[in-house]
Amino acid sequence: MTADEPLLRLDDVEVHFEGQRGVLDRLLRNPGGKTVKAVDGVSLDIEEQDVVALVGESGCGKTTLGKTAVALQRPTGGAVTYRGQDIWDAKDGKGNVEIPYQEIRRSLQIIHQDPGSSLNPNKTIMKSLQAPLKKWQPELSPRDRRTRVLGMLEHVGMAPPDDYANRYPHQLSGGEKQRTALVRALLMNPDVILADEAVSALDVSLRVEMMDLLLDLQNEFGTSFVFVSHNLSNARYLAQKAGGRIAVMYLGRIVEIGTAEEILQNPRHPYTKVLRWATADLDPDKAHAGTPPVRKIDIPDPSDPPSGCRFHTRCPKAREVCVHEDPDLFSHSEDPSSHAASCFRQFQRRGHEYWNSPELTDSTITDDARSEENVIGRS
Ligand SMILES: Nc1ncnc2c1ncn2[C@@H]1O[C@H](COP(=O)(O)OP(=O)(O)O)[C@@H](O)[C@H]1O
Ligand code: SF4
Ligand SMILES: [Mg+2]
Repeated sequence: MTADEPLLRLDDVEVHFEGQRGVLDRLLRNPGGKTVKAVDGVSLDIEEQDVVALVGESGCGKTTLGKTAVALQRPTGGAVTYRGQDIWDAKDGKGNVEIPYQEIRRSLQIIHQDPGSSLNPNKTIMKSLQAPLKKWQPELSPRDRRTRVLGMLEHVGMAPPDDYANRYPHQLSGGEKQRTALVRALLMNPDVILADEAVSALDVSLRVEMMDLLLDLQNEFGTSFVFVSHNLSNARYLAQKAGGRIAVMYLGRIVEIGTAEEILQNPRHPYTKVLRWATADLDPDKAHAGTPPVRKIDIPDPSDPPSGCRFHTRCPKAREVCVHEDPDLFSHSEDPSSHAASCFRQFQRRGHEYWNSPELTDSTITDDARSEENVIGRS
């Protein structure tokens, strides 16, 4: 590893789900048996003590991208490296493996929207939390394991910890279960935690409490977070306080990435403006003012994304060129963590073909892409 290797690097990552997977997937998610391009060419660096919030409508690929970042999903294209080590080469024992896969697995943890799913209903919290410690740190004595679990429970506000340690999952509230799942991840001393809609099911005050806890932990343990949320105001809260970034996803791609201020105050991508419009609690006075900045068209099928710019079927600013050409994620700066977007409109010096291209009218959009229902997820 060289000094300038990021903690995690996703390089042109693709996750394409083939049609002929398990029966359940085929029935529930992919009845047509087509290839779903859940992630389709994403590059992203995650640094130490970083926060990246992935936002976008349901089905745009947030979970798949997050899982790929923390090595729970193998990409079908591109590469994911941890401190310079290709994660899947480490898993397969390919080449000169400098960081063993087990070490990478331990460093990358996840907490889910439904924290109950990671807790055994028949085991006490103490038993559930000790199990992974036994596996990853077999050298710890039972007494040390216990002390570590109790210390961490107290750390996340579950006091008195002895009381919580002796409970079963059904004796915990939703917020307490989520804290327990967080303790379980933290006991691994991870570098990155993927929090996948981890606060979405909590009511507002608990949500803020939980996000504040994540921020404390980021400071104290230096943990990085990939925070997945369909709710832009949660993403803003976390990214702003952590000094992190928001990445806006659309149909398997990151279409805009930047600091919370850049994304909220100075969005460059028309889709980011749609998400802003649809997010009521950002600015209650302005919420839903006027018409939505989007054409009345369904979210396209991820197995058959539109040609050119994938957003062109819904974009009110689309012009002819957008149907044929696919804009790259572009930043005006050399800094890889700077504000970037994939829309031709940011090339305002009229040299770009977009500015001379005829506007796209609804009649030039194919009929099967049109629908009376507008399906922006309001949050
Ligand atoms: N295991 C799978 N097999 C087939 N398709 C999948 C699988 N997992 C996710 N998908 C599809 O990939 C797309 C992205 O899903 P997901 O990453 O869960 O999006 P999000 O988290 O943004 O809602 C969706 O169309 C979803 O149905
Ligand atoms: S490139 Fe064209 S279609 Fe795509 S977001 Fe920009 S204006 Fe809209
Ligand atoms: Mg998801």
